[in-house]
Amino acid sequence: MVVAACYGVDRRLCDEIARPAVERGWRLAITLTPTAERWLTASGEFERLTQLTDLPVRSRSRLPGEPRPHPDPRTFLFAPASAGSTAKLALGIADNQALTVLCEALGDPSVHVSVCPQLSDAQAGHPAWPGHLATLRSAGALVTPVSPDRAWTHVLDALPVAGTDRP
Ligand SMILES: Cc1cc2nc3c(=O)[nH]c(=O)nc-3n(C[C@H](O)[C@H](O)[C@H](O)COP(=O)(O)O)c2cc1C
Repeated sequence: MVVAACYGVDRRLCDEIARPAVERGWRLAITLTPTAERWLTASGEFERLTQLTDLPVRSRSRLPGEPRPHPDPRTFLFAPASAGSTAKLALGIADNQALTVLCEALGDPSVHVSVCPQLSDAQAGHPAWPGHLATLRSAGALVTPVSPDRAWTHVLDALPVAGTDRP
């Protein structure tokens, strides 16, 4: 699971995505953007998130001599996905750990990638936005928008069944 800094993430991530995912049988390997980590740490949600997984919650790259902290997931959920990080993913700009793992996942056709953007009308009105979505979809990603007005848990319905490759 990869998480960006979108409105509400500092209050809603555990209850609306992470805990329901664990209840559905997912083992969570969580990577945050640097901004999302700052927000979640300030709200206390980071600490709650760490209780939901046996793997470290990360946002930084490892040192070359350090072991890889996460296994290679077969399923990626990028939720909530900010407009900026979604654009960078479409362009292949891997300038932080969250985008590094997402860009590699998108480049592997055997990996399921769900991208769940939450953005304002003005952000969606950027002339490059439709092209970014088209790029992600052409790479096989499933795009499921989320909003501040609806619980985010529905994003889990678009994933394969936990522990399998089945939809
Ligand atoms: C309170 C607040 C709420 C925000 N909500 C959103 C949002 O819902 N969607 C979005 O794309 N950007 C939102 N932004 C802007 C992003 O946080 C900003 O673009 C940030 O650089 C995203 O970083 P990240 O993608 O690396 O997490 C918000 C910013 C603030 C301060």
